[in-house]
Amino acid sequence: MGYDAKFRVWRGDTDGGDLQDYTVLVNDGEVVLDIIHRLQATQAPDLAVRWNCKAGKCGSCSAEVNGRPKLLCMTRMSTFTEDEVITVTPMRTFPVIRDLVTDVSFNYEKAREIQSFTPPDGLKAGEYRMKQVDVQRSQEFRKCIECFLCQDTCHVVRDHEENKQNFAGPRFLMRVAELDMHPLDVAERRDSAQSEHGLGLCNITKCCTDVCPENIKITDNALIPMKERVVDRHYDPLVWLGNKLFRR
Ligand code: FES
Repeated sequence: MGYDAKFRVWRGDTDGGDLQDYTVLVNDGEVVLDIIHRLQATQAPDLAVRWNCKAGKCGSCSAEVNGRPKLLCMTRMSTFTEDEVITVTPMRTFPVIRDLVTDVSFNYEKAREIQSFTPPDGLKAGEYRMKQVDVQRSQEFRKCIECFLCQDTCHVVRDHEENKQNFAGPRFLMRVAELDMHPLDVAERRDSAQSEHGLGLCNITKCCTDVCPENIKITDNALIPMKERVVDRHYDPLVWLGNKLFRR
């Protein structure tokens, strides 16, 4: 049985905007993205929204539903009551382009700042050998779909534009941890995690873990272990001596 839902959607562009009210039909089994599409088809043909797979895998449809960072295609209408007003707004941490579409290029800039996978000199493609047990830990991080909801919710940058320059955000600190845990990567990751990518600004509130649609334990399995590795390097005298002698 369908019903009419009350939607409040942010409309605007780089010059500003505001919330506009709509009443839209909802059918059984639908998700918020279905309602946004119906809104486009029936009342607001110029409403801008980014999406691609509608299966929670491309990471394009990130926005905020009732103030919570969400994938629009994975947010079921059945999680709301029929009389609830549902507010849909663009991700707050990134500049708006139009309506629900934001400019997420901050994330691509941060990705470029991380040194890529660096195998030992002389090791050719096809000669990489490692044990499954050694890649097990970091394999979880490869599930990331780069929806940037963790970057959006992270309070270090959400209301602090001034921190953006010095902070890579959870998605990319997780990438640093993934590379540091890789058995064949020989690049220096620990000092740069702190000095270049702002690991010290993270105070492990786990907001990033809470919003991850892939349920990656970003804080517990990537950020906290990375912080421990940085501290080990600086404060354990044996590790410090070993690092001096062997650079790992
Ligand atoms: Fe691809 Fe939502 S449309 S994750």
